[in-house]
Amino acid sequence: MHATRPTAEPATTGLMEVRGLSKSFRGLQALDGYSLDLRPLTIHGVIGPNGAGKTTLFHLLSGFLRPSSGTISFDGRDITGAPAYRVARLGIGRTFQNIRLFGDLSVLENVMVGMRRDDRASILATLLSTPSFRRREAELEAAAMDLLILFGLARARDRPARSLPYGDQRRLELARAVGLQPRVLLLDEPNAGMNPIETRELLELIRRLRDELAITIVLVAHDIPLVMGLCERIQVLNYGRLIAEGDPASVRANPDVISAYLGTARHA
Ligand SMILES: Nc1ncnc2c1ncn2[C@@H]1O[C@H](COP(=O)(O)OP(=O)(O)OP(=O)(O)O)[C@@H](O)[C@H]1O
Ligand SMILES: [Mg+2]
Repeated sequence: MHATRPTAEPATTGLMEVRGLSKSFRGLQALDGYSLDLRPLTIHGVIGPNGAGKTTLFHLLSGFLRPSSGTISFDGRDITGAPAYRVARLGIGRTFQNIRLFGDLSVLENVMVGMRRDDRASILATLLSTPSFRRREAELEAAAMDLLILFGLARARDRPARSLPYGDQRRLELARAVGLQPRVLLLDEPNAGMNPIETRELLELIRRLRDELAITIVLVAHDIPLVMGLCERIQVLNYGRLIAEGDPASVRANPDVISAYLGTARHA
């Protein structure tokens, strides 16, 4: 027998591995030395008070911001500083804390805009509107409809996105992100503005994305019960720093977490 790592803990298990990730905005340290080992097919939660750096973290992971320092790797590839479009193509999808939809486009069009197309092959076909282009569009439309059905939005397919109730707009944004076929999906406050029933349905939907579509989820939310009920692993940020990490029970019992949240409640 020789001394090796236990087989239950392989040396590299992270689908995303982040080390020492930091971002400062003119002296303000919004994120400071953040690390992550994201295991495939987990639902990973990031919580923390207002201004803790959660959205900044997602902007960095998705290439919307460049880090001041630190590294990000995805599926063994260094993607530090890669632009957002490339990060998205590699398989990291996201939604936004403030919904970003094409308000005048229909629900169906909003999903189709996000779907994968083979751009190089289809530009000429698009211009000429060839039969192969029309067939491809029909396939995309069918796939988009499948997503709308999954997300409970099929009946709204022809309505302008801006006319939907808020909770439906949130689900539409999620549907569009899923249409890009991400392997990792970053969800920034996906239940913001939803009532408890909508939130419970969303929770089931997020589980299905993981179980049926094999999407690994990273989720930011203020709603502690949602995060505790959904996530297998939770990190807590406060003033840009990780103050706790672990399973829901250990995070809930952590005195630093309790005081960070009591501190916020006092100022709320
Ligand atoms: N573009 C920017 N320029 C300057 N400061 C910024 C910028 N973006 C964020 N900040 C600051 O960085 C800190 C972290 O902000 P961030 O939006 O990441 O927090 P958050 O945890 O998402 O908060 P919330 O829960 O309110 O969404 C805050 O102090 C914020 O004011
Ligand atoms: Mg935020």
